[in-house]
Amino acid sequence: MALERTFSIVKPDATRRNLTGAVNAKLEAAGLRIIAQKRIQLTQAQAEAFYGVHAARPFFNDLVSFMISGPVVVQVLEGENAVLKNRDVMGATNPKDAAEGTIRKEFAESIEANSVHGSDSAENAANEIKFFFSDIEIVS
Ligand code: PPS
Repeated sequence: MALERTFSIVKPDATRRNLTGAVNAKLEAAGLRIIAQKRIQLTQAQAEAFYGVHAARPFFNDLVSFMISGPVVVQVLEGENAVLKNRDVMGATNPKDAAEGTIRKEFAESIEANSVHGSDSAENAANEIKFFFSDIEIVS
């Protein structure tokens, strides 16, 4: 299979606890290569736009507030089957349901503070990568 790209965020609960390296080690051990990465502080407008698809959901305001509560690390990951591979290593949205060895099982604090975001399709990955990165920042 050809190389695929996906988009990932190390969320504020993980940056606050200095877990970016530990998250990255899990991603790399799963066969994903970090080909772009930057630490940023999301604005409210950026978070609302990024999560716009969830605007009607009851947790939307909490999700936006959480995502602007501290720095995040946005990343582009590359590998075979990268979208699925990243979803597997992330684990289920709710850490209570996450499988052993996954990032969320080991590090997530709650369904809100769940340490990482990962694109759920190649199409969304392409859009999410464009939202945060220019081509020149991505080096594979
Ligand atoms: S997923 O991964 O998109 O299928 O998960 P989903 O359940 O649809 O959730 C979408 C994003 O919303 C976050 N989420 C929540 N945030 C705060 N409170 C509650 N209760 C909650 N439930 C879900 C979830 O972590 C997803 O965020 P991202 O950044 O996309 O992983």
